[in-house]
Amino acid sequence: MLTVIEAIQNRRSIRKFKPDPVPDELIHQMLEAARLAPSAGNRQPWRFQVVKGGILKDRLFKEATSGAEHITGAPVNIVCGSELLAFVKGHKFAPSGSEYLGADSENWDDIKQFIPAAHLYTAIAVEHMTLVGTALGLGTCWVHSIRHSQVAKTLGWPRHIVVLALLLVGYPDEDPPPRSRLALEDVILREQH
Ligand SMILES: Cc1cc2nc3c(=O)[nH]c(=O)nc-3n(C[C@H](O)[C@H](O)[C@H](O)COP(=O)(O)O)c2cc1C
Repeated sequence: MLTVIEAIQNRRSIRKFKPDPVPDELIHQMLEAARLAPSAGNRQPWRFQVVKGGILKDRLFKEATSGAEHITGAPVNIVCGSELLAFVKGHKFAPSGSEYLGADSENWDDIKQFIPAAHLYTAIAVEHMTLVGTALGLGTCWVHSIRHSQVAKTLGWPRHIVVLALLLVGYPDEDPPPRSRLALEDVILREQH
């Protein structure tokens, strides 16, 4: 098994997949890693729907994406979203002790202001999945360029669960080199004189 640092170094966005099915146990391990992610106030707004094939995957591809081949080629799509009711004070989805901050009601105007925070926490959970996927020998790719509200409609999600992205999962059929990154000196800000 890779160390965390090795998983971070080896992970690539994979857009070409083998048709081989991914064992449920591996998807379970990825979802379990997502479940353990940190979030402010421990709100845990992340929600996931695993779409493997069939009519739902066809509809998702046709109606909700821009038709990119890599989306349809992945044997598993994990649709990732955020539950805004986790931000309603006193709601059963909101952890106790987090009442100090949050919406006063389930009214859309009240809860929609929490979308950026909710997606921030969900993104951490999604990234846990990409790293565990890498450690398990799987390829993953975040796909944010989707018709978010159409994805929600296709899957029948209620308005208070907002779509963030798809995570493509499968056995890699490509081995891309590392994509370039800024040098450390370019991302470290120093005291200005
Ligand atoms: C939040 C997020 C959204 C992304 N959306 C897309 C996307 O819509 N389509 C796609 O092909 N790749 C997408 N990617 C993958 C990036 O293009 C990729 O991470 C970047 O080019 C660096 O390559 P690497 O992941 O192989 O290191 C996304 C990545 C992140 C983190």
